[in-house]
Amino acid sequence: MAVVFNLFFLASLCYASLLDTIADRARRAIDSSNARLDYIWKEIQGVSLDTDDVRSSVSAETKHQGFMANISIGSPPIPHLIIMDTGSSVSWTECQPCIHCFTQALPIFNPPQSATYRLLPCSSPICHQAPSMIGPASRCEFELRYGDGTTVSGYLSTEKITFETSDEGITSVPNLVFGYATNVGGNLGGQTSGVLGLGAKMTSLVNQQGSKFSYCFGSIWDLQYSHNQLIIGDGAVIEGPSTPITIVGSYYYVSLDSIRVGEKKLDISPQVFKVTKEGTGGIVIDSGATLTYLPKAAFDPVKDEVLSLMDDLVQYVGTLSSCPCFWGVIDRDLVGFPVVTFTFANGVDLALDVKSFFTPAGPHKFCMAVALSTVANLTLIGVLAQQSYNIAYDLARNIVSIHG
Ligand SMILES: *[C@@H]1O[C@H](CO)[C@@H](O)[C@H](O)[C@H]1NC(C)=O
Ligand SMILES: *[C@@H]1O[C@H](CO)[C@@H](O)[C@H](O)[C@H]1NC(C)=O
Repeated sequence: MAVVFNLFFLASLCYASLLDTIADRARRAIDSSNARLDYIWKEIQGVSLDTDDVRSSVSAETKHQGFMANISIGSPPIPHLIIMDTGSSVSWTECQPCIHCFTQALPIFNPPQSATYRLLPCSSPICHQAPSMIGPASRCEFELRYGDGTTVSGYLSTEKITFETSDEGITSVPNLVFGYATNVGGNLGGQTSGVLGLGAKMTSLVNQQGSKFSYCFGSIWDLQYSHNQLIIGDGAVIEGPSTPITIVGSYYYVSLDSIRVGEKKLDISPQVFKVTKEGTGGIVIDSGATLTYLPKAAFDPVKDEVLSLMDDLVQYVGTLSSCPCFWGVIDRDLVGFPVVTFTFANGVDLALDVKSFFTPAGPHKFCMAVALSTVANLTLIGVLAQQSYNIAYDLARNIVSIHG
């Protein structure tokens, strides 16, 4: 995942940590053989516990540039805000006793104080899906290393998780597999207490709660917006046109046919976006990444077109790593700038207006929120690009619907 992007690091939008993300993903994508996928899928189908849907209100996290779900853990339920990440499959929160934890806004969870907390034994089949399973047989330990360098270790439990929204009341789901992290390294912090793994693996809440989920974000900059929502289960809002997904490990791959700037279709060979037999290439939808990443053969035409359109509008400042930046204010100076449209297989469009395609990088400076993917030609569709869309995943039908 690329969950952790500090706003103050916007200036380094395209630095090494982001590229590491892609490198990690590339490696994992290559490691995953079809046999392993088949195995994981069989395991996934076997654990659907419930067909009722659960909902959560979602709020923007501008510090790390992602969205957080509000869920309550344990009995009595303690609310926590955790970052939604479609690129990883373990959900966790920090817990006592902490060996090393980041400072979080809410008190750190203390499992013995919850009446519904149970250790997940190592013998549980789901434990074998935990990343880097280690430690004594009495409990299922996990260790995660995210693309941005954040490391997390702890153990898996089963726990009652309570989801609620402002208008839908309360749903409690017993015995969800949930991680308790006792040692976290990296630069997470602020309002969040952990990560909600919405990836495709068996440990993911998505697969424990049916096979559908949807989320709808407003603007990442609008902290008051109250209609952000995450729904996991049959109530997921699957509407609008859909495009096929291919699951590789935790990741949701889609096919991209073309990119348009306004009416102009850019000259990019569709071959550029195909997954190769080596496992490179391909497009992953990733709510844990802030930016969108394109391989050079797509990035260059996009950048060139944007630079030529900007000529008359604002002054070019240069690049921050790969992202072109400009003097100006997005709202004020880009009135009339064309929409950039990504067209996925089946003609499904994701249209990026200036607020989804650019990101502020200072009071009078902004940068393209699309960066160069220099590793393995992977494309990531990040969270800025997904603003103001309802994105719904149906893992039984292998589709994602994208509705603006
Ligand atoms: C999260 O939900 C709890 C329980 O409903 C509520 O008290 C709290 O204010 C919510 N937090 C946010 C940031 O929405
Ligand atoms: C990326 O794609 C280009 C062709 O578009 C190819 O020449 C290059 O070798 C690829 N790089 C990797 C790392 O696969």
